[in-house]
Amino acid sequence: MLLALGWPAAGRAGPVEADAAPRAIYQRACLSCHGAEGLGKPRLYPPLAATDWLNAPRPDRLIRIVLHGMAGPVKVNGQPFPTATPFMPGHAATLSDVEISTALTWLRRSMGNNAGPVTPAEVTTIRNAAPQRSSMWTEAELLAFPAR
Ligand code: HEC
Repeated sequence: MLLALGWPAAGRAGPVEADAAPRAIYQRACLSCHGAEGLGKPRLYPPLAATDWLNAPRPDRLIRIVLHGMAGPVKVNGQPFPTATPFMPGHAATLSDVEISTALTWLRRSMGNNAGPVTPAEVTTIRNAAPQRSSMWTEAELLAFPAR
């Protein structure tokens, strides 16, 4: 049951910044571009701290970004990241559904974000919807998926 829920365990409350499991995934897979505090780099790497993308009520777009990557340009909190490079590679081959749900649930509850959990089942559904996809998403493609 706990495994099916991924992280965090149901009913868990309190600060999550120090949680080792999701932070370790973040450090391995995301930090090199988005920074230790999720602040990114102006015009190159967008922030993950307190962003409109992270706080979307539905995680449909986020899961797709992590699975298959994203190529710019993109606007984050109204700020343009205007070029196609650097881009974000997909993590479908290197992160499991539980790892993706763990990292996204943690990000949506830390770094100034405040949004609901992402379950492993939601990641599995979206992974299975595009098993052959190898290209990165564009902003226009992602905006076609519901945010709420
Ligand atoms: C190699 C660098 C790189 C890595 C590693 C990386 N990203 Fe990204 N990410 C980007 C870039 C660059 C963009 C914006 C797209 C563009 O400009 O091409 C982006 C966009 C995003 C966005 C949408 C915009 C925003 O800032 O909210 C999210 C969410 C995101 N990344 C999450 C993650 C997560 C979670 C991980 C780790 C699992 C990760 N990224 C790993 C470079 C990276």
